[in-house]
Amino acid sequence: MRVRVPHFDFSGSSAHWLPKAGEFAQLLNANSVVIPHLERFLNKVMAKAASQITGEDAESKRVRSDIRTFIKQESCHYAVHGSFNQMLIRDGYDRLPEIEARIAAHYERLIRTKSLPFLVAYCEGFESLTPPTGEGWFNGSMDRMMRGADPTVLAMWRWHMMEEFEHRTVCHDAFKAIHGGHILRTYGWFYQAASFSRMAGWVYRYLLEVDRQQMTKLEIERSRQNAKRSVMGFASPMVRAAPRILSPGYSPRQIAEPEGWAATRDLIERDYITKSADPAGA
Ligand SMILES: [Fe+2]
Ligand SMILES: [Fe+2]
Repeated sequence: MRVRVPHFDFSGSSAHWLPKAGEFAQLLNANSVVIPHLERFLNKVMAKAASQITGEDAESKRVRSDIRTFIKQESCHYAVHGSFNQMLIRDGYDRLPEIEARIAAHYERLIRTKSLPFLVAYCEGFESLTPPTGEGWFNGSMDRMMRGADPTVLAMWRWHMMEEFEHRTVCHDAFKAIHGGHILRTYGWFYQAASFSRMAGWVYRYLLEVDRQQMTKLEIERSRQNAKRSVMGFASPMVRAAPRILSPGYSPRQIAEPEGWAATRDLIERDYITKSADPAGA
């Protein structure tokens, strides 16, 4: 696990960065709008968790050190998505800040009202879903759809999912150290899945509403079908993985590196990483 500081320049990008699948691009854009709020929340919760894992044994030290690296990786993620999201606002989706205020309020309310074990379970729930979602970015299964995509936006998602895969054990270990109960873990998982889908749905419907202002009736009908297919395609790896994730013996350590993950990491590091920080020395 390493901290990488990438350079992505979105000045030449647009919301319609994926010509073969416009509705799928908007679904990813909707995820991108929620991400900075979610990841700031993850960092606050994980910093609090680290302060409660006080043991001087090797395992506690390792978990605290992993959390420090996790926080740095997530900080890079939300900074990059923040600049991508600014591009969306410039591109004509100027009501996004109103929706973002509602998203920010959700996370503020959680921090204010929920216990630390619940908050860590919520974070662990989100992080458990990034490996199944991420796989398609590495193993070639999305390559056909991504033909003709804006290379900068494509690289952003590949970089982010590659690091999500890399730090997949951190929230799981933190939850085990803080609480570990299966019922709370399951409750946090469903709670976060419902919250994230609801908020990404607000953004997605708005982005599509703006796009459809320029469409004919027939195009709108086609766009509705494409949107439905996009949501099903996006959700299906998570739905398939859910029974395994929710089983009492689940550990993200059981998940092997997907085919193409290391090659994706090497390409991203070659082309987009200007500097990387050694977590041990940071
Ligand atoms: Fe992230
Ligand atoms: Fe993450």
